[in-house]
Amino acid sequence: MNIFELDRQYIMGTYRRQNLCIKQGSGAVCTDESGKEYIDLGSGIGVNSLGYCDKEWADAVSKQAHTLQHTSNLYYSAPDAELAQMLCEKTGYQKVLFQNSGAEANECAIKIARKYSADCYGEQACRNRILTLVNSFHGRTVTTLAATGQDVFHTHFYPFTEGFSYAPANDFDAVKAVLAQGGFCAVMFEPVQGEGGVMELDADFLKEVADYCAAHDLLLIADEVQTGMGRTGTLLACEQLGVKPDVVTLAKGLGGGLPIGAVLANEKTCNVLSYGDHGTTFGGNPVVCAGAKVVVSRVSDPSFLLEVQKKGVFLKRKLLACEEVTGVSGLGMMLGISLKTKEAAKVCAQCIEAGVIVLTAKNKIRLLPPLSISWEELTEGVERLISVLNA
Ligand SMILES: Cc1ncc(COP(=O)(O)O)c(C=O)c1O
Repeated sequence: MNIFELDRQYIMGTYRRQNLCIKQGSGAVCTDESGKEYIDLGSGIGVNSLGYCDKEWADAVSKQAHTLQHTSNLYYSAPDAELAQMLCEKTGYQKVLFQNSGAEANECAIKIARKYSADCYGEQACRNRILTLVNSFHGRTVTTLAATGQDVFHTHFYPFTEGFSYAPANDFDAVKAVLAQGGFCAVMFEPVQGEGGVMELDADFLKEVADYCAAHDLLLIADEVQTGMGRTGTLLACEQLGVKPDVVTLAKGLGGGLPIGAVLANEKTCNVLSYGDHGTTFGGNPVVCAGAKVVVSRVSDPSFLLEVQKKGVFLKRKLLACEEVTGVSGLGMMLGISLKTKEAAKVCAQCIEAGVIVLTAKNKIRLLPPLSISWEELTEGVERLISVLNA
């Protein structure tokens, strides 16, 4: 049986995979079983921030795997403590709690918001609702599906977790009207809505939401699972949007290819969870954290971030010059391409034929290239995409 058949026979069919079996990779290029090369402008949905098998990252991971692979959270170990220190020093947050995924990090943020409110105002105040934005995506657990502001995700798995309300993005009056109903403890948002179609929030809107939250003691939670760790050209996307949320969630690119989630908390929220309130067996795993330390030290370098910004501008300019492209949304190297006549899903499949990997988000082509992609790889990759769009 070949890999395609094995996969279909033994793995539950929850993904519609492309017709591509990736064998290995280096930098922004991967190869299939036949040796054909593909320039990857998707980085495993924003995960391989340093590309495939970056030497420094792979050395750190393998050295740690040969030293100490797991301890459980019953004991201390260096990699997670050192990674937490790096994250706090580079982002200005006070404390971190490590998780395994974006959904899990968001679950933790939701727990922090509800407990903060219960601690300050009492359970009987019923101040436990969370407002999220229409078109958002926050994960696949039953609670983060409920937090996701898209009806299409609110099917099959009833009963969903209660306590979420939705309001349209970039419409502060609508947000205010929902919050005025009372019972809220937090607002949660993605700075750029990724799965929802790469839609960035307006800085003015976010500032109004942040001010409202501060005035009413609601926690502001940024889901930076996709936007964080340099993806948008700043370490956190919120930096360039001018807000400093109380809680920030990270995952995807933080691990550079190994599973990790993290919750950053400020002075107000960093001691809300205490002994026994939360835990996860693999959170802060030494091997994963050793790799993440390399990612954080590289992507937080201002010259690296400047390159991400320049590469984003370059991509936008090249794409906007293409007849088939009607618009490019997003920030840094998180881009959504609107098409005049073509169907994004078909373009995505044709790109594989043409030796370039791209993603979709709703009816757009989505690009999330490795942040470390070379100019040569980027130029060749976008040219292959444009040739598919022009065909
Ligand atoms: C903004 C955002 N939040 C949460 C998630 C869920 O992350 P994970 O798949 O690691 O659980 C995603 C995944 O796409 C995401 O883009």
